Amino acid sequence: MHVAIIMDGNGRWAMQRGLPRTAGHAHGAKAVRRAVESAVRHGIQTLTLYAFSSDNWARPRAEVTALMRLFRRYLMAETQLCVERGVRINAIGRRDRLSAALLRVLERSEQLTEHCSKLHLRIAIDYSAQHSILEAARRGPADQRHWRTLLDEVNHSALPAGDVDLLIRTGGEQRLSDFLLWESAYAELYFSESLWPEFDEKGFAAALADYNGRQRRYGALVTEQGGNPR
Ligand code: IPE
Ligand code: IPE
Ligand code: MG
Repeated sequence: MHVAIIMDGNGRWAMQRGLPRTAGHAHGAKAVRRAVESAVRHGIQTLTLYAFSSDNWARPRAEVTALMRLFRRYLMAETQLCVERGVRINAIGRRDRLSAALLRVLERSEQLTEHCSKLHLRIAIDYSAQHSILEAARRGPADQRHWRTLLDEVNHSALPAGDVDLLIRTGGEQRLSDFLLWESAYAELYFSESLWPEFDEKGFAAALADYNGRQRRYGALVTEQGGNPR
């Protein structure tokens, strides 16, 4: 199963407490750790987290810098734990605009967790679904590779991630903000009012329970046995 999360609401969480937005991002990192733990516990195979969209470059420079520093710190602090838990780390998105320091840490985390197979953790940084799709289309005609393979290549996805089964967005907004547009063609959408820093194990379990109660049809009719057509 592939779960994807749009981790939204860090800024509002901080504002509510009279804190700078960056404090919200720092607390958001703790929620990331919880989400990874939940995913492992629930036996999820793939978890894709939206950490920074290509449009987020439009934010104030100080906020962008703080976020990039957080990503680097998170990777440095969590990689060993990921190895122990069998979590394979992989960043998706553009790499050409990341700092050399972040790229170095990122590649190190990817290498150190390469052999891990329990959970595939994909962190979307400088990610834009529209950009990925256009880039794959641009490369596509040159050869006959499968469209999905091309998308995975564009996104530096070390493993084929497959389509999204459950897409969660916290923070109350009900939109996709250019996240995994292709892969979410038949994703079940789940919107939570919780702001990302307060999203916890219970919230994760509630989203999964909601998903488990849904009937996926993929445009077909449900069989008599009640199984999913796909
Ligand atoms: C999501 O939280 C994190 C990133 C986009 C990096 P926001 O920073 O968008 O928080 P809100 O939506 O302003 O509350
Ligand atoms: C989407 O959140 C991006 C991430 C969570 C990383 P935004 O806060 O950037 O999205 P909009 O601006 O509300 O659409
Ligand atoms: Mg937001």
